[in-house]
Formats: sequence, C-alpha cells, structure tokens
Amino acid sequence: MRDWRTKAVIRTFCLAMLAMTFTHAWADSALESDLAQCWSCHGKEGRSSDRTMPVIWGQGADYIMKQLTDYRDGGRENQIMSSMAESIPRAKLGEASKIISLKPWPASAVPTIKEGLPDLAQACAACHGADLTGAQTDAGPAPRLAGQNELYLAEQMHAFATGLRANHAVMTSIMRNLDGAQREDLARQLAHLEP
Ligand code: HEC
Ligand code: HEC
Repeated sequence: MRDWRTKAVIRTFCLAMLAMTFTHAWADSALESDLAQCWSCHGKEGRSSDRTMPVIWGQGADYIMKQLTDYRDGGRENQIMSSMAESIPRAKLGEASKIISLKPWPASAVPTIKEGLPDLAQACAACHGADLTGAQTDAGPAPRLAGQNELYLAEQMHAFATGLRANHAVMTSIMRNLDGAQREDLARQLAHLEP
C-alpha cells in the first residue's frame, strides 16, 4: 500500500516537472533549440523516413504560419499538430515559422525528373509557382509541392476532396474535380519533381 502511494506521488511529481519543463522551454531558451522537438517527427535532416510526414524545412514562412494558426484555431484538424501548435506561444509563431522556412529543403527521397511539369500539374502552377516551389497568391500562400512526400501529398489531396481538410475552399473544389486515381498520379509526379 505504502509502495503504491509513494509511486503515485513520484509519478505526479514527475508529470508536473515534465509539464513545467515544456512550457518553460518556449519561454526562456532560444527558439531554435525548442524547435528540436519538431524534428523528431519531421526529420532531423528535414525529411522523415515516415513519408506520411510532410517536409516543412524551406516551406514558405507565411504558409507555415497559416497552418500553425489553423491547427491552433481548429481550421485544420489534426490532433497531434493541434497540440504541437498550441505549445508554441502565439507571439512566437511568426519567428518560429521564419526559422523553419530558412532551413534548406532536403534532397529528394525518390528519383527525380527535371524536364518540365507533367500535364496534370500544369494547372497547379498558376498558384503554386512556375516550378511548383510555392508562391504568394490572391488566394493566400500556396505551399511548395515539388519534392514533397508522395504519401503526404496524396493524403492531403484526398482530405481536401472529402472535406476532412477544410481550411481552403478553392483547394477543396479543385480536388473534388479530380478522381482518386488522378490525385494519386499527381502526388507521385509531384514527389518526383526536382526544380
Ligand atoms: C508527433 C509527430 C509530430 C511532431 C512532434 C510535430 N509534427 Fe508537425 N506534423 C505532423 C503530422 C502527422 C502532420 C500532418 C498533419 C495533417 O494531416 O494535417 C504535420 C504537419 C505540420 C505542418 C503542416 C505542413 C504542411 O505542408 O501543410 C506544419 C507547418 C508542422 N507540422 C509544423 C510542426 C512544428 C513547428 C512542430 C514542432 C513545434 C511540429 N510540427 C511537430 C507530425 C508532427
Ligand atoms: C487558385 C490557386 C490554386 C490552384 C490553382 C491550386 N492550388 Fe493547391 N493550394 C493553394 C493554396 C492557397 C494552398 C494552401 C491552402 C491552405 O491555406 O491550407 C494550397 C494547398 C495545396 C496542397 C496542400 C500542401 C501541403 O503542404 O499541405 C496540395 C497538396 C495542393 N495544394 C495541391 C494542388 C494541386 C495538385 C493543384 C493542381 C491540380 C493545385 N493545388 C492547384 C492554391 C492553389
């Protein structure tokens, strides 16, 4: 009985310390080292071996900022990322996004093609940039698609089409105009694109 109680007290103490360490980190230390926790999923060299994780290094700062804000406010739903985004104080979101955007986009994970855009992807260039490395548009910041992980791209395109990702009405209607096989073809082509 005594043992059990002692253990419970120690456990509560440890959890409290952990929580304190976590909030403390963002408050005091350099943002750069706080962001190290993100690389455990997004990859220490900018690309995770789990291809359902997106590359975020070198993505546009405005785009990253919008996504983190959407995760926080519930505009984009993902349990893990909502709590990760909430752990960053709102006042530090801009700086954190900038640090991530200045990191180099990692080398491609798959064999690359360099000769122009595949047919289906021509229409995407109007917003995502001529070489699909991202651009500012009237519809908001459009992210880099070239060299993004195939599984992640396919998942997001299906999520727009089914309404699971509902933080951009234009992307929803574009993806609803394609069928599942077309979305998967596009995801594969985009992942192999090296500008
Ligand atoms: C436990 C794993 C995990 C950790 C840790 C994590 N992420 Fe993520 N992140 C994900 C997953 C999975 C997604 C895709 C979620 C979805 O489908 O919306 C994602 C998506 C994102 C996106 C959107 C990318 C895009 O192309 O739209 C950004 C930005 C992001 N994460 C930033 C961060 C930052 C900053 C941190 C650290 C504070 C972090 N992540 C920590 C797993 C993680
Ligand atoms: C009218 C402009 C526009 C066009 C055309 C367009 N997009 Fe987008 N796309 C955007 C914007 C803006 C976003 C960012 C949405 C947000 O804020 O979450 C986006 C987001 C995406 C994402 C999410 C990427 C990520 O990192 O999570 C994918 C995938 C995508 N677009 C694929 C495509 C493809 C493929 C095409 C062509 C068939 C296309 N888009 C055409 C504007 C556009």
